[in-house]
Amino acid sequence: MTFQNSLAFARSLDAEDSLSNYRNEFHIPQVNSKDVIYFTGNSLGLQPKRTQKFIDEVMADWKNLGVEGHFHAEKPWWDYHERLAAPLAKVVGAKPKEICVMNTLTVNLHFLMVSFYRPTKKRFKILCEEKAFPSDQYMLQSQAKFHGFNPDETLVEVKKRKGENYWRTEDVIDKINEIGDELALVLIGGVNYYNGQFFNMQSITKAGKGVGAYVGWDLAHAVGNVALKLHEWNVDFAAWCSYKYMNSGPGNASGIFVNEKHLSDENIPRFEGWWGTNKKTRFLMKPKFEATQSADSWQVSNPPVLSLAPYLASLELFEEVGMQTLIKKRDRITAYLEFILQEISKEVKGSFEIITPKDRGCQLSVFLHGHDKSLFNYLMKNGVIPDWREPNVIRLAPAPFYCSFEDMYQFGQILKNGILADL
Ligand SMILES: Cc1ncc(COP(=O)(O)O)c(C=O)c1O
Repeated sequence: MTFQNSLAFARSLDAEDSLSNYRNEFHIPQVNSKDVIYFTGNSLGLQPKRTQKFIDEVMADWKNLGVEGHFHAEKPWWDYHERLAAPLAKVVGAKPKEICVMNTLTVNLHFLMVSFYRPTKKRFKILCEEKAFPSDQYMLQSQAKFHGFNPDETLVEVKKRKGENYWRTEDVIDKINEIGDELALVLIGGVNYYNGQFFNMQSITKAGKGVGAYVGWDLAHAVGNVALKLHEWNVDFAAWCSYKYMNSGPGNASGIFVNEKHLSDENIPRFEGWWGTNKKTRFLMKPKFEATQSADSWQVSNPPVLSLAPYLASLELFEEVGMQTLIKKRDRITAYLEFILQEISKEVKGSFEIITPKDRGCQLSVFLHGHDKSLFNYLMKNGVIPDWREPNVIRLAPAPFYCSFEDMYQFGQILKNGILADL
């Protein structure tokens, strides 16, 4: 499709967009009495309007039933989390029994490493991407130390080539093969938080498994954003948060995936608690752990129902729309944003470059040349909410659920005026 940088054209794209009505399903913040142009669905997704109803329902059941809500609430609390597994399995390409929602992301990655990082003197190295999300770096370093290894000798980072802004799949695979039988674990962010790159998860997983390592993924920026087939790709484990593209609220609960083949493997250790036991016999309060034979056996505590309610509300939206439709719009709106940026760059030569490769979700990261954070501050004042990453990157994520093509056009005008005003 040939795009045009005009309001009329942007509006014609909105008129064709089968998801345009879904914008009304979300609360859009306002600046200067106008809806903001929201580019930070990759950081905190907007609040679906139906979320309130899901929370109110839990509050009403608690008010009216007290402890009886565990079994007699409209949606009983004791197995509330199970309602999330089937819709979430569709979002990540898994079987429902491979999914559990529990804890928060970094906590879950630690829990999963208890099971899937069991280094030996010979096989102890962990492969990750250069400058992984800081929490992942701290988590990996602390795991290495916990097992008595020196993090500097344990963590192997795959670097980008000099002068390039993205990782090459062949470099990741070469590094995996180079480490070979010393490699215990591959753990990479499926979509990189900084440049928005979507790694070739299938090929990397195959290579990692090929040298006998476990392969896990941090899917914080991938879930609800890109097409995932965790089961088919033979991924061992994954975890993600729910507050970005999954729109389930600040700091909210995390999902995990554990491949079916590990679910009944008694040689894989876990940190265990009562909600990981067989639900039929849980309240017999037996002294011995009896695993559920699903990813739920990694669930230590009883489910935080007030956190799960917004996640369930959000999953209802994903069920209605489906990842395929979301991805179709994502591709078009991201391509349109890219086009708008390219058009503007003709008028303000050399002011910025897009550092996101074509393998991506909806995020475009823009590196500013000759401008600093004052340009970002100007955007914020003018009703645009992007985000800023040091040293000079503005991240723009047009989440397909609620961003419009008109937003992209209007953003282009605001950005151009800011650059021309030499901010
Ligand atoms: C890629 C990635 N990993 C890990 C985290 C940490 O998540 P949490 O604070 O929920 O543990 C984030 C948070 O934004 C993230 O983007």
